Amino acid sequence: MSQRTLILCKPDCVQRRLVAEVLGRFERKGLKLVGLKLMRVDRSLAERHYAEHRDKPFFGGLIGFLTAGPVVAGVLEGPDAVAVVRRMLGKTHGGEAEPGTIRGDLSISKQNNLVHGSDSPESAEREIALWFRPEELVDHEPVDERWVQG
Ligand code: RTP
Ligand code: MG
Repeated sequence: MSQRTLILCKPDCVQRRLVAEVLGRFERKGLKLVGLKLMRVDRSLAERHYAEHRDKPFFGGLIGFLTAGPVVAGVLEGPDAVAVVRRMLGKTHGGEAEPGTIRGDLSISKQNNLVHGSDSPESAEREIALWFRPEELVDHEPVDERWVQG
């Protein structure tokens, strides 16, 4: 079933110039970009995005991190996209994430783990609405889609 999911190349990803590497992995996997933008994040958006962690001890640090520099927000579409992206990210802590995953290959930090991915279809729907206006999402059908998705 085709699904959409939100990704954020977090400030460490932009600072380390790893945006193309990360987006390239998703593209090569066969996921389709339907939304993409570079933006600054204000506290209100960061706090709404990570609202589920409001009461955690790391919340203050996390909001400081997400607002410390620009992020690249994207929407990816494809079969089972939410779970596919989460598997490609690997475990939260970069130092524990499996080699072959984005965090496992490129991060050694628990907080600075480069990329966010929605954790369920419900989260994806909420987060896409939070980060993108409907007219910023572009429906399209790449010519090789049936070859990629079988
Ligand atoms: P994300 O939401 O960013 O995709 O990451 P996730 O699901 O793998 O992990 P989650 O539990 O949702 O945590 C959100 C982000 O908070 C930072 N974090 N810091 N210092 C800490 O103990 C700690 N724990 C989590 C990470 O940036 C994590 O991705
Ligand atoms: Mg999460």
